[in-house]
Amino acid sequence: MPYSRILLDKEQLSRIVSRLGAEISSQFRSEDNCMALVVLEGAKTFANDLLAKVDFPVDIETITASSYSGANSTGNVMIEKTGTLGEKIQGRNILLIDDIYDTGLTLSRILDWLKTLQPNSIQTCVLLEKEIEHAKQIDIDFIGTTIEDVFAIGYGLDFEGQYRDLPCIGELSEERSQQYNAAPKT
Ligand code: IMP
Ligand code: MG
Repeated sequence: MPYSRILLDKEQLSRIVSRLGAEISSQFRSEDNCMALVVLEGAKTFANDLLAKVDFPVDIETITASSYSGANSTGNVMIEKTGTLGEKIQGRNILLIDDIYDTGLTLSRILDWLKTLQPNSIQTCVLLEKEIEHAKQIDIDFIGTTIEDVFAIGYGLDFEGQYRDLPCIGELSEERSQQYNAAPKT
């Protein structure tokens, strides 16, 4: 087993996503010009399920961010986006969707970039908030739930590219994380 215990099972995830979908819909329903900006790769599964639940028209765009090496944030956030995304932001009501609010470095980098592009509004949604002192404090508008400071896998969240396909979210096993730490790095 790659995880030592289940943090959120399939049913719990489904309930959380339905609640968030309803909350977001009630805020965005009266707006037009909405754009969901999904932070890949981790938020893909969550965002797919979430956006299937909302009842307002929304364009979906993606941005790729990465900062993790194994189970540690490198703090060095890399952002990749398509060349034309920047031109589509002006005047839009943006819903930024990420998987986890951990150190906050990723979201803060993306938010800083978004603000320069003059959207009409920006709201943020994360599935999970880790109960830690965040390096960057961010006001998240929609939070699924909080988790302890453990490394989570499944439902889109990976450890070294693996386990995104698990239907639940679990805590990465000590054994699996040690195997990684013991392996020679190239
Ligand atoms: P932050 O920049 O430290 O807030 O981290 C944000 C990104 O790191 C998230 O979007 C995730 O993709 C990844 N991340 C943070 N914690 C975890 C975890 O426990 N499991 C898997 N990915 C994580
Ligand atoms: Mg991410």
